[in-house]
Amino acid sequence: MGYAPSERLGIDLCGVGMVSPVVLAAGTAGVLGEMGDVMDISMLGGIVGKSITREAREGNVFPRITFTRGGMLNAIGLANPGLGVWESEIGPKVDGVGTNVIGSVAGDSVEEYVEIASAMDGVEGVKIIELNVSCPNVHSGLEFGADPGALGELVSAVRGVTGNTKVFVKLSPIVVGTPSTVVDLAKVAVDAGADGLVLCNTVPAMGIDVNTRRPVLSNVMGGMSGPAVHPIVVRLVHLVYRGIAGDAGVPILAVGGVSRWEDAAEFILAGASCVGIGAGSFADLRIPKKVVKGLDRWCLKQGVGSIGELVGGVELGE
Ligand SMILES: Cc1cc2nc3c(=O)[nH]c(=O)nc-3n(C[C@H](O)[C@H](O)[C@H](O)COP(=O)(O)O)c2cc1C
Repeated sequence: MGYAPSERLGIDLCGVGMVSPVVLAAGTAGVLGEMGDVMDISMLGGIVGKSITREAREGNVFPRITFTRGGMLNAIGLANPGLGVWESEIGPKVDGVGTNVIGSVAGDSVEEYVEIASAMDGVEGVKIIELNVSCPNVHSGLEFGADPGALGELVSAVRGVTGNTKVFVKLSPIVVGTPSTVVDLAKVAVDAGADGLVLCNTVPAMGIDVNTRRPVLSNVMGGMSGPAVHPIVVRLVHLVYRGIAGDAGVPILAVGGVSRWEDAAEFILAGASCVGIGAGSFADLRIPKKVVKGLDRWCLKQGVGSIGELVGGVELGE
């Protein structure tokens, strides 16, 4: 029997109605919500699809995922079926997924992002797309999300081809190669027309097998996610909400280490309107439902009629 969240959890994310503010994070729900085969996704606000590139990608060779004490390390390498397959086989199924679908776009040039975003824009059911900007720009070698000029150009070019589809920009928690902070980059994205921000992608990381003396991932470097990264992302959500998003009225989708409802509640109080779960549902498929139920009880205890009243509500004693 499906669980229906109370109206307290309903949100309007840039015009997209969601039954709860909890979504499955990019790359962790399958290419298009295959997680729906093993859990009830109707109580979720949506699922974010796998990042799609123009050409199909096999991704990095195995091992490309490993578990650590604080979560998991991955270097999947953007394995995905490519835009052609997305358009012919995946896009037509979006409307039947049973929850909102947020598309995710990756690429190594502005033109590639624009081509994929405009293809997704025309698809019934895709109302929001995320730009995964943790991808190196073929021209500069820097990640789009670490290069304010390239980021601004990318966001405004994509915004120029997306009609009613909202564009969310997913930033990295650590920006290497630029003096800009995550707040600076969030400002660039908002000024260039981003409708929302996603904080954050995985934290750059590495692990070594001390017996073989080899890196645990074939790619040597990877990205850390799961409980260990959660407080890092809470801080960034707080800074970006106070620094730009709150005043600009730009919603934040916070992702990083949610494995209990309290983690999601922390994100809301820090300034997130919506919360994503990635590694959490790998560890335990029951986590998304527990988070939704826990948030519902929390709203009741906090005496609010809508979870939106708690967004950014951390008491700093100022
Ligand atoms: C196996 C795996 C695959 C991922 N693939 C993508 C992806 O394709 N695009 C993207 O933007 N983020 C991707 N991510 C990052 C997640 O969406 C999320 O930002 C990150 O894992 C932090 O959340 P978590 O701690 O709840 O896992 C992936 C993460 C994992 C663990």
